Amino acid sequence: MTEPKNIAILASGSGSNAEKIIHYFKNHKTINIASVITNNENAGAIERAEKAHIPSKYFNKEDFETPHVILQYLKSKEVDFIVLAGFLLKIAPEIVAQYPEKIINIHPALLPKYGGKGMYGNHVHESVILNKETESGITIHLVNDNYDEGRIIFQAKCSISPQMGAKQLSAKVQQLEHQHFPKIIEEFVENH
Ligand code: GRF
Repeated sequence: MTEPKNIAILASGSGSNAEKIIHYFKNHKTINIASVITNNENAGAIERAEKAHIPSKYFNKEDFETPHVILQYLKSKEVDFIVLAGFLLKIAPEIVAQYPEKIINIHPALLPKYGGKGMYGNHVHESVILNKETESGITIHLVNDNYDEGRIIFQAKCSISPQMGAKQLSAKVQQLEHQHFPKIIEEFVENH
C-alpha cells in the first residue's frame, strides 16, 4: 500500500475553510491533514484544528521570513502539499521552491480581477460591489512568487443582483468555497 499524501493547511483567520477541509479528509484513504499552521495566535483555525485532533502550530512573522524553520517543521510532518485557506502572509520563495506546483490557494474572486496585494477579505467584495460587477466567485490556484498569479486550477461563479451588498456577496462566495475547495484539493493531490 502506498503512503497517504500529507497536507499542511496554513490559515490566519477564522478557519471555516480549514474546518471543511479537515472534515472532508477525516478517514480519507489517500490524503491526510498533517497539521494546521498559523501566523496568528488567536486564529479560529487553531481552535477548529484542536477540536478535530489535528496538530496545530504557531509561527510568528519573523519565522515565516526565515523559512528554514518552517521548512524543517514541514519536513518533520512529511508534508507533501500545502493548502492556503485564508493565509495572509506571502509565502517565502524558498518555500515555493521546495514545493513547486504543490501549494494551493483559494481567492474569493474571479482572478485575474480583484487580486494582488491588499486584495483580501472584505476589501475584495467591497471593490467588486463598488464596480457594479454582475458576477463574482472563487478561484483556486497554485502559488508562485507573485501574489495571486499562479496557474488557475478551478473557478466557480455566482451572480450579483443590483441590490446586493458586500456582506451578502461574501456569504455567497463563502458558500462556493466550502462547496468546492475540499473536492478540488482532493482531485489535484490525487493526480500530482
Ligand atoms: C476566504 O474567503 C478565502 O478565499 C480567503 O480568506 C478567506 C478565509 O476564510 N483567502 P476562513 O478563515 O476560511 O473562514
